[in-house]
Amino acid sequence: MYTVASFIAITYGRRPVTRPKILATHPLFPEARKILDAAGEVDYWNTPGAIPRDELLKRVADKDGLVCLLTEKVNAELLSAAPKLKVAATVSVGFDNIDVPACTNRHVVATNTPGVLDNTTADFAWTLMLAVARRLVEADAWLRAGNWTGWTLDQFCGSDVWGKTLGIIGFGRIGQEVARRSQGFSMRILYTDSRRVSEKIEEELRAEYVPLDRLLAESDFVSLHVPLTPDTRHLINAESLRKMKRTAFLINTSRGPVVDEAALAAALANRTIAGAGLDVYEREPQVNPALIPLKNAVLAPHLGSSSLETRTKMAVMAASNVVACFEGRVPPNALNPEAIAR
Ligand code: DGY
Repeated sequence: MYTVASFIAITYGRRPVTRPKILATHPLFPEARKILDAAGEVDYWNTPGAIPRDELLKRVADKDGLVCLLTEKVNAELLSAAPKLKVAATVSVGFDNIDVPACTNRHVVATNTPGVLDNTTADFAWTLMLAVARRLVEADAWLRAGNWTGWTLDQFCGSDVWGKTLGIIGFGRIGQEVARRSQGFSMRILYTDSRRVSEKIEEELRAEYVPLDRLLAESDFVSLHVPLTPDTRHLINAESLRKMKRTAFLINTSRGPVVDEAALAAALANRTIAGAGLDVYEREPQVNPALIPLKNAVLAPHLGSSSLETRTKMAVMAASNVVACFEGRVPPNALNPEAIAR
């Protein structure tokens, strides 16, 4: 077996003798395909739906590179099924699907797609916030069912968004973009994170750093933007939901397991909080059945970064990361550049 370093040594400065074999677990977009096809022999999974695990393990066996989605786990099992693998590129910024230390041990470079989806995901957090507060999805379904017989004063009265307090948990790139959008809504911003941002950013975004409990107690909207780690799993649970205002809304565009879904469904049913806008779930694509009948929940199928422009950029970025590796460069978005032992 040869490592990324030896592959680079072999290929650097001249054309590889054999073209690398790459598996893409999705047909991707033409812009990304063009990049991959120019670099190697690509096996695309073209069947609608996620590639079944056994098919993935079978197809990756002779591959040098992998472009995968957040639905595919790149773990010890996959790595041992793929002895030639040198690079695994997930088309997502979140990389909880990748066991990075296991990749490093095997000298496999893992990459993700940071930066390009920040604005699109922030837009979507706002989409959920406005939709749930103003009861848009509920009202749309009611109108389509032929129920509207005329304007009345108290139809679908929702909650104002403007002028309220928005609490942002996780103040990285996406969290900050969510805060930036609040300025047109004259909102007060509270945030919490494992690290405080610079004074300059706090001033620019008019954001106040507070402990989690204070954020939960004072916010009218709580929006989650943390990665999934052992520390953030079930960060929002029955106890934290009880600390929120009864009039508050929870928005989750981060990762499902950050929220205890059963506790949230109970809190929504009991009106411990007013509502939730969810894009992510604990066991995707399954959604806790207790959430389905709840009118105070707006449920989206993990669409945060799903604009054509952004998803295309993400796929291009993943393809470029793979190609960089085969051209003897450290991929620009390497999560473990140390995997390339020179
Ligand atoms: C990501 O990139 O991690 C998102 O969840 C995809 O929308």
